[in-house]
Amino acid sequence: MSLPADTFRRISIIEADITTLDVDAIVNAANNTLLGGGGVDGAIHRAAGPGLLAECRTLDGCETGDAKITKGYNLPARWVIHTVGPVWSGGRNGEEAALRSCYRRCMELVEEYKLRSVAFPAVSTGVYGYPSAPAATIAVETVSEYLNHSSFIESVFFVCFNSRTREAYNAVLQASHGQ
Ligand code: AR6
Repeated sequence: MSLPADTFRRISIIEADITTLDVDAIVNAANNTLLGGGGVDGAIHRAAGPGLLAECRTLDGCETGDAKITKGYNLPARWVIHTVGPVWSGGRNGEEAALRSCYRRCMELVEEYKLRSVAFPAVSTGVYGYPSAPAATIAVETVSEYLNHSSFIESVFFVCFNSRTREAYNAVLQASHGQ
């Protein structure tokens, strides 16, 4: 993968708790119920407060590979985009297509709501067990395709919560830059 300079410039890899970020939208790695859980999902619901769960109850869940948007409530972020990644089960059960679909659907919502900044956690790579390296490749490829055709979106943050994730993203971006 080779990224145009203008796309590369708008992508950042950061180490942070995603719930602290002052961006237009943060992405939640949710489950099909959209009613909360552990990991980043639990952290987002705790930080956003009960208004988020109340709105999520109106959404009737979410299919794997799809995404739905809510307000951010007590979060610094204005919006939360909830996406449901695949559970890793060996890699031959449609996991890659589902994970690509997650990032694509999130970026479609970013465009639809005219948002300029969005932060993604490493969807599916925690409880759901997706290996970090191929997940990072999918994330960067899918998001870059959007940035290549949309100059409106200013900043995309890939948020790393552990060193394994950071190393995976660094490797993808280093390999893609300047080629
Ligand atoms: N900020 C940024 N990243 C985080 C944070 C945080 N506060 N907390 C965890 N991560 P996971 P999944 C990272 O397990 O694999 C939930 O129960 C974490 O280190 O949150 O998609 C849902 O309800 C990892 O790199 O999501 C589902 O049932 C990444 O976020 C299930 O887990 C994703 O880990 C979804 O599993």
